[in-house]
Amino acid sequence: MILRDMTEADLGGVLAIERTVHEHPWTLGNFSDALRSKYQCKVYESAAQELIGYAVMMLAVDEAELLDIAIASSQQRKGLGRKLLNEMLALARHHEMRRLVLEVRASNISAIALYRSAGFGDIGLRRDYYPAHGGREDAILMGRGL
Ligand SMILES: CC(C)(COP(=O)(O)OP(=O)(O)OC[C@H]1O[C@@H](n2cnc3c(N)ncnc32)[C@H](O)[C@@H]1OP(=O)(O)O)[C@@H](O)C(=O)NCCC(=O)NCCS
Repeated sequence: MILRDMTEADLGGVLAIERTVHEHPWTLGNFSDALRSKYQCKVYESAAQELIGYAVMMLAVDEAELLDIAIASSQQRKGLGRKLLNEMLALARHHEMRRLVLEVRASNISAIALYRSAGFGDIGLRRDYYPAHGGREDAILMGRGL
């Protein structure tokens, strides 16, 4: 598995995964903006150069925010999400960040389980933060020291 910088050329593949794993996916514009803003945009690919997943992280003064992380549906539950999260934690540490924070939909049981087992704790709740089918959904804010 190789972690490398995401480029514009990856966005077709990234969007194809994004649209299958999220009910409310990021758009092409969201990913292009993230690249233009020089966020930490990484893709995770196999030795055969198959796109397995990706992550987008923003670095602030001493705090990083994980804005998106996903593993292709066919590759989930093989420990790759945890590996990719660990890579992003290491990257944040490399940039001398002191904390990694993120927001997750309250219904996203698998992501919440991953984050909790990776040492993230709850740091807040944003009520009705996300659009959802038939209404709105809370965001759980989580974070961990680095
Ligand atoms: C969240 C996501 C990245 C996890 O990737 P993954 O490769 O399937 O995860 P892993 O195989 O590394 O599993 C790590 C842990 O996550 C949790 N987990 C993953 N899938 C789960 C599921 N379907 N149900 C419950 N827990 C789950 C478990 O705690 C698991 O640890 P375990 O295998 O020791 O029980 C993946 O499910 C995904 O891409 N989801 C869609 C995008 C998304 O929701 N991103 C997060 C936005 S905040």
